[in-house]
Amino acid sequence: MTRDYPRIVVPPPGPKARAIVERQERWASTSYPKEYPLAIARGERAMVEDVDGNRYLDFMAGIAVASTGYGHPKVIKAIQEAAGRFLHICGSDFYFESFAALCERLAQLAPGKSKKRVFLSNSGTEAVEGAIKLVRQSTGRPAIIAFSGAFHGRTYGGLSLTASKSIQRAGFAPFLPEVYHVPYGYRYRCDFCRGEPACTMRCVSSIEDGLFATRLDPQSVAAVFVEPIQGEGGYVVPPPGYLKALRELCDRYGILLVCDEVQCGVGRTGKMWACEHEGIEPDVLLTAKGLGSGMPIGAIIARESIMKWRPGAHGSTFGGNPVCCAAALATLEVVEHELLPNLPKTGARLLAGAERLQQKYASIGDVRGRGLMIGIEFVKDRATREPAPEIPHELVERAFRKGVLLLGAGKSTLRLAPPLVVDDYDVDAALRIIDECLHEMTD
Ligand SMILES: Cc1ncc(COP(=O)(O)O)c(C=O)c1O
Repeated sequence: MTRDYPRIVVPPPGPKARAIVERQERWASTSYPKEYPLAIARGERAMVEDVDGNRYLDFMAGIAVASTGYGHPKVIKAIQEAAGRFLHICGSDFYFESFAALCERLAQLAPGKSKKRVFLSNSGTEAVEGAIKLVRQSTGRPAIIAFSGAFHGRTYGGLSLTASKSIQRAGFAPFLPEVYHVPYGYRYRCDFCRGEPACTMRCVSSIEDGLFATRLDPQSVAAVFVEPIQGEGGYVVPPPGYLKALRELCDRYGILLVCDEVQCGVGRTGKMWACEHEGIEPDVLLTAKGLGSGMPIGAIIARESIMKWRPGAHGSTFGGNPVCCAAALATLEVVEHELLPNLPKTGARLLAGAERLQQKYASIGDVRGRGLMIGIEFVKDRATREPAPEIPHELVERAFRKGVLLLGAGKSTLRLAPPLVVDDYDVDAALRIIDECLHEMTD
């Protein structure tokens, strides 16, 4: 079966795209990073059409957000029906059914047997922000442990935990006090295991015999915030047993474990939540991005024993907006019943294809991932593992001109994070074009 995408009819940016780009560049904040001059007109499943009629195959999902693709009919219908009833009432102060239903659904979907409660936010960073307040208040402890390479958002709490790119922090100090960053379980670039035949899990044990022994009283630590797979840090999959080891460490000291699943959750890794691959129950789970298929909604899902703050302690005017709640309920339904059954197979095909590329191109140092969250890390030399950021940068540019939307992550990694609706045709087409680009770049 052939499809009408990718299809480039005018070299992008075409005239209509150029006009939008110029206008936005003139009036919008200078802080937006901007990747390439894509000006979208519409989308469908994993296809994005620009204003000049070019059709792209999307393998970045608007930064891992368009989980059900660009306009799944069930999601659109739910949004339209909700918008037709009422646009706002403020879920922090009043009641409506989809708010109650979404809290119930998320509480029941969260891993583990203990009863959960849910706070609804507008974004990932707001979920992180609320979780920082929650863990501090509920434990009465100030300190938080986060990881090198972590990304938890742009507001002050989330940014204080973020350690992925210094431009994100430059000039914004002072940050929240009592935040301690430790190395993540980054197998390919692990300083602890260099030269060892297998993973020693020293990245976890050193928290105890390094940080706790020398600098930080564990009794003052409220929580460890961890991404089960690091997203912005480079699509880094920690070694098997990593989350379990963190869980055990937390349990030894009464520390809460917060899994930030803003990027890796809602089915992306082949299970509803990435931490389910290790069978652990976090005390708090954070979600956003893919939850609303693009509508702005996030959530803090916490054990009932932790989410006991008093009325008025935390709230939000827009969080859990009725249209967004409807989008989230429809998204969860589609992800659970339509997309998850096939996703591991499609993900395995993508991973196998990426591994074949690794065999073909010496510049690919590492390939890793779960489900439809795959990272391809580029190096100047496989022996030294020196990062080669210029390769993913050029690759992303070239792929755009051939009609595939990609994005980098971390220092020198290409992230593959398509909408969860992609099938074998899409996977093969994306891999073929990435191969073509790398081939041209190697010549
Ligand atoms: C793991 C993680 N946490 C938090 C955030 C912040 O989410 P938002 O951009 O919705 O504020 C992101 C965004 O990329 C993320 O990847």
